[in-house]
Amino acid sequence: MNKIAPVLSFFKKRDDKPSDKELIRENPCIDCSLCLEVCDKGLWPSILLEDIKNGRFADSKKHGIDECNDCGDCTTECPMSIPLFKYLRLGKILSFYNGNKSGLIPILLELQSNFGYLPKDMVSHIARFLKLPEGHIHSVASFYKSLRLTPPGRRHVCICRGTACHISGAPQLTRDTEKLLGIKEGETSTDNEYTLDNVACVGCCALAPVITVNSETYGKMNSDKVQKLFKKTDTKDENPG
Ligand code: SF4
Ligand code: SF4
Ligand code: FES
Repeated sequence: MNKIAPVLSFFKKRDDKPSDKELIRENPCIDCSLCLEVCDKGLWPSILLEDIKNGRFADSKKHGIDECNDCGDCTTECPMSIPLFKYLRLGKILSFYNGNKSGLIPILLELQSNFGYLPKDMVSHIARFLKLPEGHIHSVASFYKSLRLTPPGRRHVCICRGTACHISGAPQLTRDTEKLLGIKEGETSTDNEYTLDNVACVGCCALAPVITVNSETYGKMNSDKVQKLFKKTDTKDENPG
C-alpha cells in the first residue's frame, strides 16, 4: 500500500478547504506547560493560543488575556520557540474588536508590527473573522503604504520623509541609499537582504534626517554615515555615530 497517499490527501484537503475555525497558523506545541509555569500573571499562554486559533475570543478574554504584559518570558522558555507573545498581542486586539469591521486597520497594523508583513493565511482568517471579502483587505493593504503583503528583507530600511527630515536632506539620503543597496524605494534586493521604504515622521525630528533599520534608529544622517552604516551592518548593527 502506498503509505504517502493518505498524508498527501490530508494536506490536499487542508489546502482545498481551510478550516473556518483556524484563526492563526499551526504551531508545534508539545503541551509541556512550561509557559504556564513561568508566567507571573498566572496565565496559561498555550491555552490562550489555542483559543485564539479556534476563534474563541470571548474565552481568551475570560482567561485574562488582557492581563498579559508582553514580558515575553513564556516565549523565551518555550522549547518549541513559539512566539507566544506575538499571538497573544494579536489575540488581545481581536478580542477587543470582536468581529467589528472598524477594527480592520488596527488589527492589520498589529499583525504587521508582530510578523513584519501581512501573511496570506492570516489575512484570510481575519477576512472571515470580520466577514469581509479578502479582496477588500488586499485593496486596503495596497492603499496604505505602511502595510505590506510580502515579507520585507532581513534588513528593513526606512527613510523618514516627514517635513523635518525632508528639509534636512532625506531626498539625497534616499538617492544615496538606493545607489548603495542597488534597489529603488519600495523594492527588496534579490538576495532578500534589504527592503527600502520611506516612512512618515518617526517621532525624533530633532535628529533629522533619520533612517531606521528594523527597530534601530539612526539620526543626523548624511552621505558618509549612510556609507558607514551599510558597511557596518554587513557585519553587525551599530550606530555609525
Ligand atoms: S508574555 Fe504574557 S502570557 Fe507570556 S509570560 Fe509574559 S505575561 Fe505571561
Ligand atoms: S511552552 Fe511552548 S510547547 Fe510548552 S505548552 Fe507552552 S506553547 Fe506549548
Ligand atoms: S520628520 Fe523625520 S523624524 Fe520627524
